[in-house]
Amino acid sequence: MSQTRDISSPEYLPEVTIVVPTYQEVDSLGPLLERIGAVRAGGLDLDVLIVDDDSQDGTVELIASLDLDWVQLLVRTEERGLSAAVLCGLGVARGRVLVVMDADLSHPPEAIPQFAAALEEGADFVVGSRYVPGGTTEDGWGVLRWVNSKVATYMARPFTTVRDPMSGFLGFRHDTWSAAVDLDPVGYKIGLELIVKCRCRHVVEVPIHFSTRQLGESKLSLRVQLQYLTHIVRLARWKFPGWSSFVPFAMVGVSGIAVYAGLLWLFQEWLGGRISEDLLIIMAIVITMVWNFVFDRWLAFWYARQQSIARQFVGFLLVCSIPVLVNFFVTRWLLGDDVVVTPAAGVIGALVGSVAGVVFNWMFVRAMVFKRPSRG
Ligand code: GDD
Ligand code: MN
Repeated sequence: MSQTRDISSPEYLPEVTIVVPTYQEVDSLGPLLERIGAVRAGGLDLDVLIVDDDSQDGTVELIASLDLDWVQLLVRTEERGLSAAVLCGLGVARGRVLVVMDADLSHPPEAIPQFAAALEEGADFVVGSRYVPGGTTEDGWGVLRWVNSKVATYMARPFTTVRDPMSGFLGFRHDTWSAAVDLDPVGYKIGLELIVKCRCRHVVEVPIHFSTRQLGESKLSLRVQLQYLTHIVRLARWKFPGWSSFVPFAMVGVSGIAVYAGLLWLFQEWLGGRISEDLLIIMAIVITMVWNFVFDRWLAFWYARQQSIARQFVGFLLVCSIPVLVNFFVTRWLLGDDVVVTPAAGVIGALVGSVAGVVFNWMFVRAMVFKRPSRG
């Protein structure tokens, strides 16, 4: 990391620090700093922290040549990533109020005094918002980007009522940031992460006009968009740990029924008449149990992944053996004297077994096989 100025000197404590993550934004930085400079000249005591991910595009030289004592540049060389860059900047920012904004002039720096005022009046968190009255988005967004943004916004609904949780134009007090727990963002949506993990209650949305970038290129890749899905899953597991365990567990259970019935049918077609139907049912049951174990461990009991898989597997088999026995005898009984193992018998057997087993499994598997690691 290189620094153009030592902000660790204790005498300098600005009112506002603006953290600007950049990757190859050299063309935008001049005009951006000019506009921020005007806000500063208007009386807001602020400094700027540019967090650049080693763009190698002349950013370092530009900042050096501008020689502004209220602008500091951090260059990260170890990794790339918007959220990580923002967190890095927030970690060293010294303002009483912290603002995060894009470099590409999409976000108007002229709104920052309003951010500071809202925080002064008691807001925990301020978002520069396109979707509150007065907020607008410049024309020129393709249908695809618009749909994309809308879908992403709806996916954030369970976590916050903020209208524009996708915004990257953010403001909060330094102490709100210090109180954040378990920060673990991936991708772009650092604002959503902070609103949730700082447990912000009073979020104020300041309407902004979101301009289309004129200079440089967007860095919103497909990879970043897929990372958003990972981020949503992480937030769900953090905020609703019970539901985000039970829902996948139930879905895996349903999938297991389909697998079981399919296997019975398949084995019957292939091996029917050549091996006993008991063995046939047992084979289907064993494979289904492995199926359920693998997916339950991955999707429903993610938090127990560090524990021994062998011990978990044995425990899982033991717990499941009770509903499985029910399943086996129900299937057997439905068959009666009929030697043909029909998928219908399989489905009914599995259904009864599952109904008997789902509550049982859920309780015992959680208590005895996939134990939550104690926090702290
Ligand atoms: N340091 C660093 N590292 N900065 C990055 C990286 C990175 O890997 N990727 C992007 N940035 C910077 C860009 O240089 C820019 O200043 C800002 O992050 C936003 O990147 P854009 O490429 O302009 O993203 P966008 O226009 O698609 O996204 C904007 O709109 C979203 C809402 O639709 C941003 O404002 C997002 O924060 C916002 O959520
Ligand atoms: Mn942009």
